Amino acid sequence: MFEAVEMPEDKASFYRILVAQAKALTEGETDTLANLSNVASLIFTTMAKVNWAGFYIARGDQLVLGPFMGNPACVRIPMGRGVCGTAAQEQTTQMVDDVNAFPGHIACDSASQSEIVIPFSENGEIKAVLDIDSPITCRFDEEDRKGLEALAAMLAERIQLNQLNY
Ligand code: SME
Repeated sequence: MFEAVEMPEDKASFYRILVAQAKALTEGETDTLANLSNVASLIFTTMAKVNWAGFYIARGDQLVLGPFMGNPACVRIPMGRGVCGTAAQEQTTQMVDDVNAFPGHIACDSASQSEIVIPFSENGEIKAVLDIDSPITCRFDEEDRKGLEALAAMLAERIQLNQLNY
């Protein structure tokens, strides 16, 4: 079973280990819901100063809440709305230092102050986003973006997101 290890503070090492752990957790498992659930838990339990971590799944013209850890969250987000909907529509990572200054930000948890959202696309089509919220401003920097995009790239290779896009 999964053994929690002490995570290093320097971000490059942290993300190297995080990606390796996510790889080990999803190894040989084909069920997407189970894999995303474990990855949401892994992120939430290892990343410092994070109050919400999880996935929204693209269904039609909306994002629908998927596996996550943190407070209950809004279930449906229209494409283009909020930080998640913007990441989905533009298919680019959104890193927001202060969510209160982001036009259209959807406040699911009033504790959230900064946020990063990484999109998953296939053949130019949005499939899902990974959303991580922090209770402090400016929690995420370029190293987080690089590390989380590396995690997403690894997951995109082994996870069948289409299982959830109905
Ligand atoms: N704040 C997000 C909504 C999702 S919650 O943070 C979990 C947004 O503006 O898209």
